[in-house]
Amino acid sequence: MKVLVIGGGAREHALCRSLSLDPDVTSLHCAPGNAGIAEVAELHPVDALDGAAVADLAGSLGADLVVVGPEAPLVAGVADAVRDRGIDCFGPSRQAAALEGSKAFAKDVMAAAGVPTARSYVCATPQEADAALDAFGAPYVVKDDGLAAGKGVVVTSDLDAARAHALACIGAGTGGRVVIEEYLDGPEVSLFAVTDGETVVPLQPAQDFKRALDGDEGPNTGGMGAYSPLPWADPGLVAEVERTVLRPTVDELRRRGTPFAGLLYAGLAITSRGVRVIEFNARFGDPETQVVLARLRTPLAGLLRAAATGQLADFPELRWSDDAAVTVVIASHNYPGAPRTGDPIGGLADVAEKDEHAYVLHAGTRIADGQVVSAGGRVLSVTATGEDVATARERAYRAVDRLSLDGAHHRTDIAAAI
Ligand code: AMP
Ligand code: GLY
Repeated sequence: MKVLVIGGGAREHALCRSLSLDPDVTSLHCAPGNAGIAEVAELHPVDALDGAAVADLAGSLGADLVVVGPEAPLVAGVADAVRDRGIDCFGPSRQAAALEGSKAFAKDVMAAAGVPTARSYVCATPQEADAALDAFGAPYVVKDDGLAAGKGVVVTSDLDAARAHALACIGAGTGGRVVIEEYLDGPEVSLFAVTDGETVVPLQPAQDFKRALDGDEGPNTGGMGAYSPLPWADPGLVAEVERTVLRPTVDELRRRGTPFAGLLYAGLAITSRGVRVIEFNARFGDPETQVVLARLRTPLAGLLRAAATGQLADFPELRWSDDAAVTVVIASHNYPGAPRTGDPIGGLADVAEKDEHAYVLHAGTRIADGQVVSAGGRVLSVTATGEDVATARERAYRAVDRLSLDGAHHRTDIAAAI
């Protein structure tokens, strides 16, 4: 099978790494990719948001399967453009990807499907926003309706900050809407499911660390680290979420005539009153994918192709490693603010040589003058496995210590309290 992966972050590196280990994959391509992905796949330049350009590339490569990694191309309809060329594509249609592209749409689907989530108001004016903030009280949860690369959500007890973010969303968001919702207390879980629009195959749960600084302080980011499995979680959690969240959502989108086929990501809060959906995403999470795929034993290409071709009902049960996995994100100076880029990264060969159970997945990297340099906010996702979370964590941080990037920062408490 010839596979083309679209995207260039650590999630795509994790996808490419797994695909490169799959004996059914005879040729692996990625566009635009990054310096790490170049070691396992052939890279091609492409504007990932341009559906015609992605479909042209897939056609010229003779790709049997295209896998779209990030949300922005999905929301822009890139998967539709690929399928319109008669090429199988893993990733939902533009209409189904609105589950991530519009928080108001996601709330509407959840209400129709009876999926438990935070109570919310969709506000289009400052007066409506003020009324909603007043109705819920502190802590305030204020969300840009549209895509914001994991940075559109403000959770704060400061009314002025909540109001300022609401005004910014109304002024600058897509359609100028803001979602204000009830605060959900309790640990968060990311649960992914592969679906062909009808059959739902949940993966193993992971936990992400969204805040920039140790102790869950600082601003929200795309994610600073993750681990899987969750030893503290109720063993019935996956089955419960499949029954109360994943199946009803997939059924509702099919009922609406816009089936969701691809990766459905449920961001959940385990509250004292039960499981609630915090958000849906329409693609693999980053950095959770790094730890989930580190543990998946079933070859990936066949699973993704079965989802892309409506054949998941006949797919054999997934196989998982008993090992745990931990990933630690190394971010550029100033991330999640505008990051400094172009700094050389040291120690990559050291990790490759010395750490049997750890590896470095690249996010924002490129080659400049023969040297790997930073090229984005999140730069590396240092991943390790072990017989339990503590062992995997120790190995991941040992590898982190071998790496150098001027001005970089990472959290030191990923998976520490497990
Ligand atoms: P989202 O982009 O919707 O996942 O939000 C980013 C982060 O903000 C989540 O991972 C949570 O940590 C936090 N968050 C979002 N919605 C809520 C909520 N209703 N209650 C508490 N925290 C929330
Ligand atoms: N790690 C959160 C996300 O992928 O949205």
